[in-house]
Amino acid sequence: MTEDPDILRKECQAALAAAADLKSWDAVRVSWLGKSGRLTGLLKQLGGMPPDLRRQRGVELNRLRDDLTHAVTARGEALENQALDARLRAESVDISMPVPQRGRGLVHPVSQAVEEITALFAAMGFSVAEGPDIETDWHNFSALNTPAHHPARTDQDTFYLPPVEGNETARVLRTQTSGVQIRTMLSQKPPIRIIAPGRTYRADHDATHSPMFHQCEGLVIDRDITLGHLKGCLTGFLRAFFNNPDLPVRFRASYFPFTEPSMEVDIGWSRRTGEIGAGEDWLEVLGSGMVQPRVLANCGLDPREWQGFAFGMGIERLAMLKNGIPDLRSFYESDVRWLTHFGSNPLMPALLHEGL
Ligand code: DAH
Repeated sequence: MTEDPDILRKECQAALAAAADLKSWDAVRVSWLGKSGRLTGLLKQLGGMPPDLRRQRGVELNRLRDDLTHAVTARGEALENQALDARLRAESVDISMPVPQRGRGLVHPVSQAVEEITALFAAMGFSVAEGPDIETDWHNFSALNTPAHHPARTDQDTFYLPPVEGNETARVLRTQTSGVQIRTMLSQKPPIRIIAPGRTYRADHDATHSPMFHQCEGLVIDRDITLGHLKGCLTGFLRAFFNNPDLPVRFRASYFPFTEPSMEVDIGWSRRTGEIGAGEDWLEVLGSGMVQPRVLANCGLDPREWQGFAFGMGIERLAMLKNGIPDLRSFYESDVRWLTHFGSNPLMPALLHEGL
């Protein structure tokens, strides 16, 4: 049997090339590199050699071992890829097969509420804007007149993301959709009329709080926007959304860093029966206000020329009230019985002329 490394190398390479599947490849691997493989046998002989010869032979054999290990691994990977390709080809799906009749899919109440809200604001001339779930601290807080150490920041149990190397920008999972106001004012010229539905995140979890939930932001900027526009717009929206033209709506003074004056918006309901629009009690449904001049200036708009209003609402909250859903957590449990009960027909989209 030859001991010339070049011949051995060629011999092993030929055997690998001839191995057409993983099983024969493995046999080649074992016969060369295995415990009683040929190369292993040669390496074992080193021990019995005189030092000079051993050193020279050792160098040769180590190089041979590196080459063979590399060749064996490369061939194995190539064969594995071949096998995967073959399997994928064999697994092609026959899309002409009839679908098993398991009932039709339904629209989740959160998606349904987003569609309804969008349809209503679209009818008032709003378009939909979007922003990223991973937001900069600046868009989520600072530009909204909420600088570091502002007490309002602590109300919002923020998830901070670890810093990225070489990038000083602090990032958060957005705690509110309000940052989309900033992105819109920076990228569009007024007049602006947008809503921004989307996911938001806070480190909070109980029957009425989820670490991930949905909000819808709204922003109107023009030269002569007043509190009257804000009240008319939101009252009209709430009455249409809850399908009640007489729904009592109340604007109550409040505080948000990015609006001045700020107002919380309540609708009438009965605490006793849970009925919306009846009874003596009030239920808070959204936050709103006139855009703070500093927020406009942060976006390069001159507050003497432009003004407007903004609002933000919790989508799950609205969907719970409208559909009588008692527990927020049920939204995310993917319980088919719940979805079947509260889901909507996908073939009946939210269309205003049919009522919502
Ligand atoms: N971002 C506020 C929150 O998460 C909600 C809000 C209040 C948004 C007032 C607004 C607004 O745009 O004007 O609690």
